[in-house]
Amino acid sequence: MVPMAIELDGRYCGQITVGNIVRGALRSAWIGYWVEKEVNGLGVATAALALGLDHCFGPLGLHRVEATVRPENEPSRAVLRNVGFREEGVLQRYLDVHGRFRDHLLVAMTAEEVPGSVADRLVHSGRATWA
Ligand SMILES: CC(C)(COP(=O)(O)OP(=O)(O)OC[C@H]1O[C@@H](n2cnc3c(N)ncnc32)[C@H](O)[C@@H]1OP(=O)(O)O)[C@@H](O)C(=O)NCCC(=O)NCCS
Repeated sequence: MVPMAIELDGRYCGQITVGNIVRGALRSAWIGYWVEKEVNGLGVATAALALGLDHCFGPLGLHRVEATVRPENEPSRAVLRNVGFREEGVLQRYLDVHGRFRDHLLVAMTAEEVPGSVADRLVHSGRATWA
């Protein structure tokens, strides 16, 4: 497990976690994230996720990173879409959330889909700037 803190102007405001890191022929992991409500809508999760993905495809040496999201979580789906994740399908009754197994969408990205870096792509699309 690789936990990473998200800071905005030096203040801790969220976390990126990379889990289930599998080496060998798979070289895969999942990535998860949350950001404090007070800073929602500023592009913090999008920028942090892009940097987290670059860490996965760079120093961690992964080939595939996946994430799961509940279909009704529109803000999170927007974040995933904006960094370039592709939807692969529905995982039925995947995870117990508040006492019920809920469907989740599976999204993924492989290294071949990232020529350069995810953060660079975000900057070129006009969604972020380098400080
Ligand atoms: C989901 C979450 C990470 C978003 O963080 P954030 O920093 O506000 O995200 P960003 O500002 O980078 O981007 C939010 C996007 O959602 C969009 N959005 C926000 N509310 C929306 C809604 N109700 N419907 C559709 N899109 C919505 C925003 O417009 C933005 O997309 P855009 O840049 O294309 O306009 C944050 O709300 C959170 O931590 N939620 C709880 C934990 C969670 O759901 N984690 C993800 C689990 S899969």
